[in-house]
Amino acid sequence: MPSQFLPFHVPQIDEDEICSVVETLKSGWLTTGVKVKRFEEDFARYLGCGHAIAVNSCTAALHLALEALGIKAGDEVIIPTMTFAATAEVVLYCKAKPVLVDCQSDTLNIDVRKIEQAITDNTKAIIPVHFGGQPCDMEPILQIARARGLHVIEDAAHALPASYQGKKVGTIGDITCFSFYATKTITTGEGGMATTENAEWAARMRMMSLHGISHDAWKRYTKEGSWYYEILDPGFKYNLTDIAAAIGIEQLKKCDAFGAARKRIATAYKEGLSNVPEIHTPVCASDVQHAWHLYVIQLDLERLKINRHQFIEALKERGIGTSVHFIPLHLHPYYRDNFGYKPNHFPHASAVFDRIVSLPIYPKMTEVDVECVLGAVRKVVERHRR
Ligand SMILES: Cc1ncc(COP(=O)(O)O)c(C=O)c1O
Repeated sequence: MPSQFLPFHVPQIDEDEICSVVETLKSGWLTTGVKVKRFEEDFARYLGCGHAIAVNSCTAALHLALEALGIKAGDEVIIPTMTFAATAEVVLYCKAKPVLVDCQSDTLNIDVRKIEQAITDNTKAIIPVHFGGQPCDMEPILQIARARGLHVIEDAAHALPASYQGKKVGTIGDITCFSFYATKTITTGEGGMATTENAEWAARMRMMSLHGISHDAWKRYTKEGSWYYEILDPGFKYNLTDIAAAIGIEQLKKCDAFGAARKRIATAYKEGLSNVPEIHTPVCASDVQHAWHLYVIQLDLERLKINRHQFIEALKERGIGTSVHFIPLHLHPYYRDNFGYKPNHFPHASAVFDRIVSLPIYPKMTEVDVECVLGAVRKVVERHRR
């Protein structure tokens, strides 16, 4: 047992981030400014993408992406049911309809074969979610999109750094959206980024992220700026602060090292659980680099005397924090009641939901922490196997 409770997540914040924030606080410029610009430039260089627009959440990035692509009332957007609230609610912000699709039961990514069946004359876009940090099978998704004239917005909230067939996530679909929420692979506390190769969409997202006022309006209080600005469209208040960007600049420098640390933990979990038949470890495709934001095991409930909730409670008693990703959207009252979704419409997600548990995985974990998690999982299984 760990001497102290091992939380599900602890961010890796070092002196670099602290000094960077202090320097920003002392600079006299707190909101969007040179730090945000630098963070965007560093991010675009890191991915090798044309444009990177920093915003205050991935939710904001997804909303701006849909808006820039012209999604409007009456349109339909295909999304996986196995995702977080944000992926669907942004479609509703645009007064369009989120059309849910089932997941594959092994990777928990969207089931590509079911996408085609969900397309109607009103479908305008697909939002694949790279579940847990594993890129979706993008080639067939892009093929379907090209054949049907649909846009592809990637929800890459979990997928930094990740790649698919050697291409970095952030350089594949029309627009890709990242999250820097506190638990994500790099963090700014709250924050997000949209990336694209398309200059027009980039300019639209940038303008709409700051009230729809003319470009560089953030400079209006600086020496090179002007008090004059024009409102070109009623936009949103989605800009990132320099304080947050100061953290992001430092976190981005460590992104690859963080990724390697997560991969080491994932490898240790896989090896450590290989002889525990009651636990199925995540399946990873051979042509992807997985970001390992999440490590989601599946319980073989037929071999256990306890259910998922009892399993989580037993791990908690042994000092291990866990979580569940996700309660599929079709099981939530809003989506169930407003769209008539039923569990049997999504057999894989519905079945898998009762079995999934997310184990802690973050660079701050020591080898001892990893061993403690493995020891606790083995003990709980031993005690409760049929
Ligand atoms: C799949 C997915 N998409 C989008 C988001 C939204 O990210 P943010 O909190 O940065 O808005 C999350 C957040 O957890 C997520 O898990």
